[in-house]
Formats: sequence, structure tokens, C-alpha cells
Amino acid sequence: MSKILVTGGAGYIGSHTCIELLNNGYEVLVLDNLSNSSDESLKRVQTITHKKLEFVNGDIRDRELLDKLFSENTFEAVIHFAGFKAVGESCEIPLDYYDNNVYGTIVLCQAMKAANVKSIVFSSSATVYGDPASLPIMEDFPLSATNPYGRSKLMVEEMMGDLFKSDNDWGIALLRYFNPVGAHPSGQIGEDPNDIPNNLMPFVSQVAIGKLEKLRVFGNDYPTVDGTGVRDYIHVVDLAIGHVRAIERLKSNKGVQIWNLGVGKGYSVLEMVAAFEKASGKDVPYEIVDRRSGDIAACYANPEKALKELNWKAERELEEMVTDAWRWQSQNPNGYAS
Ligand code: NAD
Ligand code: UD1
Repeated sequence: MSKILVTGGAGYIGSHTCIELLNNGYEVLVLDNLSNSSDESLKRVQTITHKKLEFVNGDIRDRELLDKLFSENTFEAVIHFAGFKAVGESCEIPLDYYDNNVYGTIVLCQAMKAANVKSIVFSSSATVYGDPASLPIMEDFPLSATNPYGRSKLMVEEMMGDLFKSDNDWGIALLRYFNPVGAHPSGQIGEDPNDIPNNLMPFVSQVAIGKLEKLRVFGNDYPTVDGTGVRDYIHVVDLAIGHVRAIERLKSNKGVQIWNLGVGKGYSVLEMVAAFEKASGKDVPYEIVDRRSGDIAACYANPEKALKELNWKAERELEEMVTDAWRWQSQNPNGYAS
């Protein structure tokens, strides 16, 4: 049986990906320092799948630990989720972001090279496209970054390109996620932000459940359907399945391969709010405030490359995204601490 090392596997996208890996017959070892998660997610992954995974509480920057894991296990590939992800925070503590996201990935790749494990799937982001000149976004669009978080993703992408140039045995999948939302349909795992959420969906969920008073909609004067920002929201289960497809592709294709993982359709903030209200039966009060600095008007993917090369396509519609997000939120009002 093939074994996959999943860094950051206790987090939001990682835990959903563990389910899909286990359900597809992979063995899984999660390395996570629980800096933004709880191992409760992994307990629930095992309950949902009726399968076991291994968990090591540790840091990707710990080279000794990595060497030990690579010597004790035969990994087919690594899926690398571990990192920090809050844009605003990355502007306040940029060095911590470069340390964790860039240096952490360097240590991981060094350990992989030493162990001759040369297949990696990396969590990149649509943020690397900056403010795109046109839509929908294709993988060969120009790249840019406007904040340390985005720059850390761009740096890792470029570093991995250099790594392949130096050694053609590497198989590297750069997955550029659009806006992951929703939760596993069991309602047992989902997104569990530590603090007041920055992202739209967890914020809306917490307003609906009464933990937050109202949503602040960042601008209604964008050139979009109703003036509010448009994004390509993708169900986290679809996203998770994309990782399994990428692992399968790496079995026979080396090189740096890049895929947009999005639905290919954009929804506005107010459309998301309306869908959420309908699914939850709760009101989501909101006020319109100024634009958030760094935001763009609209962003959505052209996901055709992933369809052609990975045979992957997002299957879950908006209604399923908001229904599943609400099931998770209402069953776990305080996340994993509930
Ligand atoms: P998350 O914070 O829920 O998961 C990240 C996990 O990595 C957490 O469990 C955290 O404890 C762990 N971690 C962080 N630093 C670590 C370290 N040094 N060693 C070991 N473990 C460490 O985030 P997520 O939403 O699941 O995102 C996963 C990845 O996808 C991240 O790299 C993120 O930047 C990227 N991404 C996320 C989104 C999004 O909207 N959620 C969008 C695009 C890209
Ligand atoms: C943000 C990050 C991006 C990151 C992504 C996933 C910024 C500028 N970008 O993307 O780099 O990859 O999260 O983690 O932070 N909105 C509101 N009120 C809110 C929250 C959001 O109106 O309280 C609006 C935003 O203006 C935007 C949409 O909702 O139009 C989605 O916002 P969000 O969920 O934060 O995602 P992005 O900004 O797309």
C-alpha cells in the first residue's frame, strides 16, 4: 500500500484530504505542530473513514525529526499543507511567515532529497495571480504578490521550479486553490478559525449562529453583478479529491505541473450571504463598509487544465457548500472545542 506524508494534515484542507486519501486506499502519516489546529480533527477523520492514520506532533522545520520519519517509513509522496495563511497577519509578522512557509519548505525538500522521495504536492493559492488583467484565470497568467503571505507562496513555487531544473527526477504539483469553503457532509470536520475569522464564509457562519453581530461587507462599488467582490468558492471536499488526483498523476509524470483548483464560476458576497441564509434559515445581518485594502473586484478560475490532465472537476454546487458549512457550524458552535 502506498504511504503519503501529509504535512499540516490536521488543518482545514489537510483533514479533508486525509479522508479522501484513506478512502482511496492510501496509508497516511500526518506531521503537524498543531499551531493552528487540533488533533481532534484527526480522531474524527478516523471515525468517519473507519480507518487508522498515524499522527506525529512536530514541526516541518525539525530536520532531525524529518530524517527519522523518512528513515522509518517508505513514502510515495508528500502533500505539503503546513504553513501560515492569514494575509493581514503576514504583513505584521513577515519574518515568521517566511520562516514557516519558505524556510519550512526548504527543510522539508532537503529531507525529501536526502531520502530520495521526490514527489510533492504543494498548496499554492490563486493569490499568486495578483490582480488579473482578465478572467477567467489560466495557469499561464502573469504572477505577482502584494503581501508577504502571497510572496511566500510565489517564492516556494519558484524554488520548486529551480529544484526540478537541477534534478529531473522531481515530480512537483503546484495546486493553486481558489476559495475553499464548506465542510465534510458528516458535519464532523470543518474550518475552525482560532480567532475572529478573516475569510468570508467562516465569518458568515459565526454571524448566523449568533457569535458575531453582523457581517461587514467590504465595498459595494466594484464593477461586479451587485458591486460586491466576486470569488470562485470551491467545496473543500472537491479540493481534497483534487489532491488524490494530483498524487495519481505524479506516479507517471515528472516535472513541475500547475493546476488551478476552482469551480470556474464566481459568486458575489451578497449572493453568498443569500445562499447561506436560505440553507441555514438564519438571518445574516450585514452593513456595507469601505473596501478592504488589497482586495480585488473579481477572481475566478479556468479549471480546464485540471479537467484535461487530472480528470478532476469540482462537482459540488453552491447550495452544498453553504449547507455543509452550516451543518458543521451548527453541530460544533465552538469548533473542535465544542
Ligand atoms: P490550516 O491552518 O487549517 O492548516 C495548516 C496546518 O499546518 C495547521 O494544522 C497547522 O497547525 C499546521 N502547521 C503550520 N505550520 C506548521 C509547521 N511549521 N510544522 C507543522 N505543521 C504546521 O490551513 P488550511 O486552510 O488547511 O490551508 C492549508 C494550506 O493551503 C496552507 O498552506 C495555506 O496557505 C494553503 N491555502 C489555503 C487557502 C484557504 O483559503 N484555506 C487558500 C489557498 C491556499
Ligand atoms: C483571502 C486572501 C487570499 C487567500 C484567501 C484564502 C486577502 C486580501 N486575500 O482571499 O490571499 O488566499 O483569502 O485564505 O486577504 N469579505 C467581506 N467581509 C468579510 C470577509 C470577506 O466582505 O468579513 C469579502 C471580501 O472583500 C471578498 C470576499 O468576501 O470579496 C472573499 O473574501 P475572503 O474570504 O477573505 O477571501 P479572499 O479575499 O478572496
